[in-house]
Amino acid sequence: MAKPTSHTCTACGASHKKWAGRCDACGAWNTIVAEAPLSAGPAKTGLGAAKGRQVPLTELSSAEAPPPRAVSGLGELDRVLGGGLVAASAILVGGDPGIGKSTLLLQAAARFARAGLSIIYVSGEEAGAQVRLRAQRLGLADAPVRLATETSLRDILTTLDAERPDLVIIDSIQTMWSDSVDSAPGSVAQVRAAAHELVSFAKRRGTAVVLVGHVTKEGQIAGPRVVEHMVDCVLYFEGERGHQFRILRAVKNRFGPADEIGVFEMTDAGLDEVTNPSALFLSERGEPAPGSVVFAGIEGTRPVLTEIQALVAPSALGTPRRTVVGVDGGRLSTILAVLEARCGIPFAGLDVFVNVAGGMRVSEPAADLAVAAALLSAREDSALPADTAVFGEISLSGALRPVGQTENRLKEARKLGFTSAIAPARSKLGAGQGMTVRQMPDLVGFVGDIFGAG
Ligand code: TYD
Ligand code: MG
Repeated sequence: MAKPTSHTCTACGASHKKWAGRCDACGAWNTIVAEAPLSAGPAKTGLGAAKGRQVPLTELSSAEAPPPRAVSGLGELDRVLGGGLVAASAILVGGDPGIGKSTLLLQAAARFARAGLSIIYVSGEEAGAQVRLRAQRLGLADAPVRLATETSLRDILTTLDAERPDLVIIDSIQTMWSDSVDSAPGSVAQVRAAAHELVSFAKRRGTAVVLVGHVTKEGQIAGPRVVEHMVDCVLYFEGERGHQFRILRAVKNRFGPADEIGVFEMTDAGLDEVTNPSALFLSERGEPAPGSVVFAGIEGTRPVLTEIQALVAPSALGTPRRTVVGVDGGRLSTILAVLEARCGIPFAGLDVFVNVAGGMRVSEPAADLAVAAALLSAREDSALPADTAVFGEISLSGALRPVGQTENRLKEARKLGFTSAIAPARSKLGAGQGMTVRQMPDLVGFVGDIFGAG
């Protein structure tokens, strides 16, 4: 009898009895692949199973010190990690090929090495000479980082067991190959097995492990869910091609706040930290123009100002275009619907383009009002008053909801030379930070007040 095979969706990790063109769990097409089953063996759990070892129990109240952290000195990276690298933690760094993951991690490795940690950098993709060349370009050729170019997981683990480094970087998880699994490198089964073995090594030996994962075109790391749930931290390295800005975003962090971002700039000599991202994102902004609105946002623990740009133009198409970069498309549809239904401002027959300047991605609902303001400003061809920052969430009824950290938003705007802000009514302004704040109860009021319509 043929060995039974299971089928797994590479996008969501759901398992299926047989192959199908579409995964009914997540709806993705062409993502289901066949996988060799895990070896069953004798029953390992349940009554009558072989007896296990009794595990030690500790009190929840025990006063264990917080985990010690190693600081790289790359402030943007340390903050995204939650204040530094935690021993025995497993970190997944995902991103598009060519975005700069290897560059970032080589720079981080050199910093940690100079801070006294022992580091092994395992490259499964590039030859030693290539990595050395990059290190030279980054001015890090003399950093005490040890290098291995290997893809056999068994050999790597044997080496790590003997060397016991403080930090190991695996570049990338998709190139690793475990001989315990009977499928090709890069397949879900291999990625899962390799990640599992490396993460257990981290926990067993106290070594911090960084796994680099390439993201596929659909925006997911091969076998994404299976690796994401195994690791302590999931960081994504993002950026627009053609822009030099790169954003390291924590989407999961067991040792710090999620949604934290670190901002970098790709230069000829590697990645530079950007310590004042607001200034950077607003740097290309000229005179106040129709369709341009400054949003006072919060990313993780830090306020960040970004420019939201909109363009509205008559459409030649039956179904007008809705093109968004950096904002959620569904959110845009909602805002357009609220503008039409509650304020009587239709966008039918109009192409709508919305973009966040500088390649930034904004996911906060607090950006709603800034997006609406940019759309209205573009549609009415009238610029918002200069030096005004905007924030607030729009509900389906057209009411404006106050958002968190109002004071921090105002403070950051003040710091960058803004003097007034538009915010929802009942926002907790605190000291007001020396800003003139116009508080609006709803979108209709906002439209009437700012654009004299409604
Ligand atoms: P890389 O770190 O190899 O990307 P990844 O590991 O995510 O695939 O970075 C590749 C790009 O970065 C490449 O297009 C060249 C560019 N780059 C610079 O602009 N400056 C530099 O100093 C380095 C090392 C790379
Ligand atoms: Mg690389």
